[in-house]
Amino acid sequence: MKVDEAYEIWSRTYDEDRNLTRDLDEQITRTTLKDCHSKSILEVGCGTGKNTRWLSEVAEQLHAIDFSAAMIEQAQQKCPCENVTFTLADITKRWPVADASVDLVTCNLVLEHISDLRFVFAEAARVLVDGGRCFVSELHPFRQYQGVQARFERGAETIAIPAFVHHISDFLEGAERANLSLIAMNEWWHAEDENKPPRLISFRFRK
Ligand SMILES: C[S@@+](CC[C@H](N)C(=O)[O-])C[C@H]1O[C@@H](n2cnc3c(N)ncnc32)[C@H](O)[C@@H]1O
Repeated sequence: MKVDEAYEIWSRTYDEDRNLTRDLDEQITRTTLKDCHSKSILEVGCGTGKNTRWLSEVAEQLHAIDFSAAMIEQAQQKCPCENVTFTLADITKRWPVADASVDLVTCNLVLEHISDLRFVFAEAARVLVDGGRCFVSELHPFRQYQGVQARFERGAETIAIPAFVHHISDFLEGAERANLSLIAMNEWWHAEDENKPPRLISFRFRK
C-alpha cells in the first residue's frame, strides 16, 4: 500500500488509536517550542492536526501542508482558526511557499516516509527567513534499526506504512548541505519506555 493510501485509511482512527509515539511527539513539541512565538509557521505534514491547533496559538499565521486530503480534513475540523491555512501538497516536490517567508518550519513524524532528506531540508532552507528555525521530530533511528515503523491495525490486519531508515548522520548532513546550523539535538522516551532505546529524536536548526 502506498503512503498516501495508508493515511487515507488511518485518518479515520489516527487520533483515537493507542499510539505512544504520537503522544510523546505532542508533548515534546509543546515543551521544545513553547517560547517560539512566530509571525509565520509552516507545519509540514500536519496530519489530523494534532499539533496544528497548538501551533496556531504561538503563530500569527500558520500554513499547514500535507498530501493526504483525509488527514487534512480532520485537521481542518479540529482547527477552524482564522490564522490557519491548509494546502494539499506533496513535500517531495517544490513546496507551495514563497522564498524567505517563514520564521519556523515544523516537521513531526513525517520524514520516515521520505527517501530524500536533502530535498526536504533544501526546501525548508528556501522558505525560511534568515535566522529562521526548523524543528524536526522523528521516530528515533535506533527504533528503526529494530524494525519499528509507522503502522496501524485495520480489523485483524496490521498495515505497515512504507518507510525509509534515516541515520542521525543523514539528518545532520541534509541540514548542513542546506546551510542549516544545528542548535540542539534531543532524544526522548515515553514514560512507558523504561530500559528501551529512545523513541523519538528531535533537531532544532537555524538558517
Ligand atoms: C504519522 S503522520 C504525522 C502527522 C502529524 N505531523 C503528527 O505529528 O501527528 C505523517 C503525515 O505525513 C504525511 N505525509 C507523508 N508523506 C508525505 C508527503 N510526501 N507529502 C506530504 N505529506 C506527507 C501523511 O499524509 C501524514 O499525514
